[in-house]
Amino acid sequence: MKRICAALLALMLPTGCSAEEMVAQPTLTGQAPIVIAHRGASGERPEHTLESYRLAIELGADYIEPDLVLTKDGILVARHENEISETTDVAAHPEFAARKATKTIDGAKVTGWFTEDFTLAELKTLRARERLPKLRSTDYDGRYDIPTFEEILTFLAETNKSRKNPVGVYPETKHPSYFIAIGLPHEAPLLALLDRFGYRGRSAPVFIQSFEVGNLKALRARSELPLIQLMDGEGGPADAPGTTYAAMTSPAGLNAIAAYADGIGPYKELVIPRTTLGTLGNPTHLVRDAHAAGLKVHPWTFRRENYFLPLGDKGGINPAGHGDLGAEIDAYLATGIDGLFSDNPREAVATVKKGNAK
Ligand code: G3P
Ligand code: CA
Repeated sequence: MKRICAALLALMLPTGCSAEEMVAQPTLTGQAPIVIAHRGASGERPEHTLESYRLAIELGADYIEPDLVLTKDGILVARHENEISETTDVAAHPEFAARKATKTIDGAKVTGWFTEDFTLAELKTLRARERLPKLRSTDYDGRYDIPTFEEILTFLAETNKSRKNPVGVYPETKHPSYFIAIGLPHEAPLLALLDRFGYRGRSAPVFIQSFEVGNLKALRARSELPLIQLMDGEGGPADAPGTTYAAMTSPAGLNAIAAYADGIGPYKELVIPRTTLGTLGNPTHLVRDAHAAGLKVHPWTFRRENYFLPLGDKGGINPAGHGDLGAEIDAYLATGIDGLFSDNPREAVATVKKGNAK
């Protein structure tokens, strides 16, 4: 059966095969896939807090992922966006009411409060809250502050003192060309901090990721640290009008990426699209082609709530209920991915370990 499944897959024909019936493809290096805790253990704690990263490490994650933006005084802090009303209590602070603004970020109008309009001391008076309160617990709202990248690296260094295998860090530069345009570039403080904490050379436990291209090329010119080109399911890099992520997934596009990066971080449906019914379809050739170009593949984002799972792995009709995330991840592991981003390192680590034990 496995041979039939592999043959159908090679011909890009519908296989109808289960994850068990597929022939698992190897990772690029033959090493086990890594679990990257997406915004920390963000399925269980407010994202991008030290507590979210701490829990992710306790649950066995190999890397923690801080998205990085800058403050008015040039400090790198962990937030998914520079607009912070969805993940903090900023709107409840009357002293900051006048900071509300509308800006154009990567071509889109955004209204709210922006990190670049706050000093670090001001941002530190805010508290994090759950982004998805309809799907996840709000029990931890109001407890944690916004961590700086330096605080995250300090915490990681302390944690790694007692570990044989260090937990790595997987920072993302958010809106890098926007921040360059307002005089707050990521690159210098990012590289300086990583260097100060001992991240040097191609095998350092770090991956720097970006949806844009220019900052990765600039980082490559200044650093040997591993770099990851992120790819969304639609559109293209904000700093490269006319370039699409779809074109970047072609063999020629992947070869071009290999000139400046070590891997790709694709939206997961670029690896396994969903059918019109919402079930998992057949894998594309992206992992095979990326490996042929020498690139690792780390798709995102794997989440346990029914709302996010493919039909077939859902555990009922309640969007906030939990389904079989392990089954979804198993199908991806069979394609040979080199790692994955998950809000739920608890389930992701268990699934990867189970696969390794076979
Ligand atoms: O960085 C990988 C993944 O996190 C990209 O999506 O929007 O969650 O940063 P986003
Ligand atoms: Ca990210």
